[in-house]
Amino acid sequence: MKTSDSILVKYRKDYKPSAFLINKVSLNFELFDDYTIVTARLMLQANPAADSSDALVLDGEDLELQGIDVAGQKLVQEQYEVESEQLTIWLSKIEGLDYQESPFELVTKVKIHPAQNTSLEGLYLSNGKFCTQCEAEGFRKITYYLDRPDVMSTFDVRIEAEKKKYPHLLSNGNQIEHGSLANGRHYAIWQDPFRKPSYLFALCAGDYDLLEDHFTTRSGRDIKLEIYVDKGKLEQCHHAMASLKKAMAWDEQVFGLEYDLDIYMIVAVGDFNMGAMENKGLNIFNTKYVLAHPETATDQDFEDVEAVIAHEYFHNWTGNRVTCRDWFQLSLKEGLTVFRDQQFTADQTDHAVKRIEDVKVIRSHQFAEDAGPMAHPIRPDSYIEMNNFYTVTVYNKGAEIIRMYHTLLGADGFRRGMDLYFERHDGQAVTCEDFVSAMEDANGYDLKQFRRWYSQAGTPEVTVTSEYDELHKKLTLQIGQSCPDTPGQSNKQPFHIPLKLGLLDKDGNDLALELASNKEQLTDDILHLTEAEQTFEFVGVSHKPVLSLLRNFSAPVRLFYDYNDHELAFLYAHDKDPFNRWEAGQRLFTRVIWQLCAEQEAGEPMQFPLHLVNAVQNLLADDSLDGRFKALALTLPDIKALIEEVERVNLDHLIAAHDFLKRELAKQLEMDWLVHYQANHHVGDFKQDKAAIAKRAFAGVCLSYLVALDKPKAYELAVSQLVNSNNMTDAETALQLLMHSNYNQKKQIADDFYRKWQDEELVVNKWLSAQATDPTDKTIERVKGLIEHPAFDIKNPNKVRSVVGAFAGSNLPQFHRRDGKGYVFLAEQIKQLYSVNPQTAARLTGAFNRWKKFDDERQRLMCEQLQGILQLPDLSKDVYEIASKALG
Ligand code: ARG
Ligand code: ZN
Repeated sequence: MKTSDSILVKYRKDYKPSAFLINKVSLNFELFDDYTIVTARLMLQANPAADSSDALVLDGEDLELQGIDVAGQKLVQEQYEVESEQLTIWLSKIEGLDYQESPFELVTKVKIHPAQNTSLEGLYLSNGKFCTQCEAEGFRKITYYLDRPDVMSTFDVRIEAEKKKYPHLLSNGNQIEHGSLANGRHYAIWQDPFRKPSYLFALCAGDYDLLEDHFTTRSGRDIKLEIYVDKGKLEQCHHAMASLKKAMAWDEQVFGLEYDLDIYMIVAVGDFNMGAMENKGLNIFNTKYVLAHPETATDQDFEDVEAVIAHEYFHNWTGNRVTCRDWFQLSLKEGLTVFRDQQFTADQTDHAVKRIEDVKVIRSHQFAEDAGPMAHPIRPDSYIEMNNFYTVTVYNKGAEIIRMYHTLLGADGFRRGMDLYFERHDGQAVTCEDFVSAMEDANGYDLKQFRRWYSQAGTPEVTVTSEYDELHKKLTLQIGQSCPDTPGQSNKQPFHIPLKLGLLDKDGNDLALELASNKEQLTDDILHLTEAEQTFEFVGVSHKPVLSLLRNFSAPVRLFYDYNDHELAFLYAHDKDPFNRWEAGQRLFTRVIWQLCAEQEAGEPMQFPLHLVNAVQNLLADDSLDGRFKALALTLPDIKALIEEVERVNLDHLIAAHDFLKRELAKQLEMDWLVHYQANHHVGDFKQDKAAIAKRAFAGVCLSYLVALDKPKAYELAVSQLVNSNNMTDAETALQLLMHSNYNQKKQIADDFYRKWQDEELVVNKWLSAQATDPTDKTIERVKGLIEHPAFDIKNPNKVRSVVGAFAGSNLPQFHRRDGKGYVFLAEQIKQLYSVNPQTAARLTGAFNRWKKFDDERQRLMCEQLQGILQLPDLSKDVYEIASKALG
């Protein structure tokens, strides 16, 4: 626990190789209900690549040291020193120890208290079963160690526990022995032949249900696959297992990467800070990303499970076989692995739909982070608490940077780069720079300027103007780029930005692209932006085209181009690039919303622009389009993304404009929504193929417009969908729509839903968040009630996210109530949580990050809460970092 003067900032530039290496680790865990004894036998050696030191400094937190010896000698007091976060051993004080020349053994014995560990970091209990979470720096809560990713070792792990309560004893690698002990206890020994850093260590012990399967690799090896879950959940595991097999086959096909151990285990736990963890051979997952059955999980949940299963599996190569030298390099494994899981999901589902979903995350969350107090490059230069840097920037913007290699080098070039990366670095802990070099060398492609994506934070802004010369059939594009200052960074240098584009003729066909000069600035349909200002002259442009810019969102930038409504409607109807087709619709809606805001500002009534009706009606009627794509193309832009478009926002006007537009579209096209709803909503036998999923998505959006009419007939449709549904997709859609509406039987609906699903934790979480995100006025009181409800538990991060996270992150009208009660509520919850679970408390604190966007009064109210948080006694450094930077 920290006060501001004991806070330590860590800098990337301070990296030094470890003075010692660990060649071999043997751990022994004696698990008991109220404590655990960990005996660690480390084979240490001075690092020839580091400055020599006689002080062996090991990381360790919340450990009770019970014994320590080096090279067989029991240490005495003056030979070592225990501090709150480290153990120092003075090796020169140990007689006869030639620590500089030969390896030596250190044995420590510590006592820890997993049952009291609510941080969910290190070894802890979830629903009566032991599990671990070590990334980033949790292993030091298990034993004294060189807890840094560039110290890699093989691990032998012996676990012993009571047999009846903990029949399954699991760790990384292969089980090589097990047997019974006295007093109803038993043990198992695991060996992981692959050297790994401590953050990939895992242990689970408990009584699970087990789903078993196997996979034959392309070289013919048979791999055992095992999924361990809470008793009674077996029938919810089949989708996860099928997803795992798909991911294994995909990585062989697309990247030539095969699994390396003989067994792959997944354990699902209900208490988990994040989504999942890629521990070698023993992934530990949040139940949310394993359990799925159509009755309890939505189509989106199914897709998420498949994606996270794949993500963790892909880490076996991008993360485990090649890992990070230090935590500043986190994007090396996370950006790359997110890109890989995005490509995988696109291949399983639909490329355009997946791209749109991913870009929505960038626009609503990453752009906000990039423009706020926590802005950092994908490879950060400093941090106070590493757990605060598992961010949308490191993960999702990181994936956008990887995607740009794929765009610049092509699929084959990208693969060549990956192959070289593995050839050079298999078994190593490396840096982002090593990855760039591999891409560069494998393709003979200069990525010097491209490297700025790793060092400069902030979202680049690209401004395009165009001029068409009818006489010479020439189109001139004037393109400028700049990047706003971010905390600690100003005067940024231009990026290498691949701008994919098309020029549409009047029938919507793409015209051929040809530059008059500097032809190397265009490869295929990619324009290379490299300077602050550039002019591109396209020749042979037979008539004035409509510009389709930044197709497929080819770079994580904001694009400014002065489209008119006619051009946008044209692109919305005709662009061959489905991403930009969606994008044109979003721009159309966005313009209207800002126009409606301006009308309110001027004290005028809001006017619905009728030109939208045509555009939307055409899209609705286009049968060539996939239902999921239609659903996205008919959804209004996210308010969060809109806030990021302006310097300061009048939130009340923005919300009113958004509501008005939704309601007007609902009214103007009432019959269309109804017809399409009826044509796509399906009662009866449940199917989950692409067509059925698409229909549910499309029907869901139609229903959302109908409910926006605020008419009894529409509510009846939603109620009937909820009551008669045989799947959670339809049920949750209807539940949310009703909960967020003015329907007068909301309470009844919520009570019935709870009664039906109270024993399904993940469904109860949906029920909690549907209420927490109700934008109507009584929500604040209801949310306070939910905190007291038996279904809530502040120690469980999924519950906290479902109520508090959903309220603060997704309920803009109520979180930003003018009376400040939303802010007070959030601060109150942070106060309850920061010592229980610092990581999750810090996530919640981030909801205040954008305070500068709002009006003076809201700013004042938010700052007041942030200041209060900073005054809390023994504030965790996690929360301290977020709150202090926000006020910064
Ligand atoms: N490496 C995990 C992943 O697959 C995330 C673990 C993050 N854990 C944490 N405590 N920050 O993305
Ligand atoms: Zn990951």
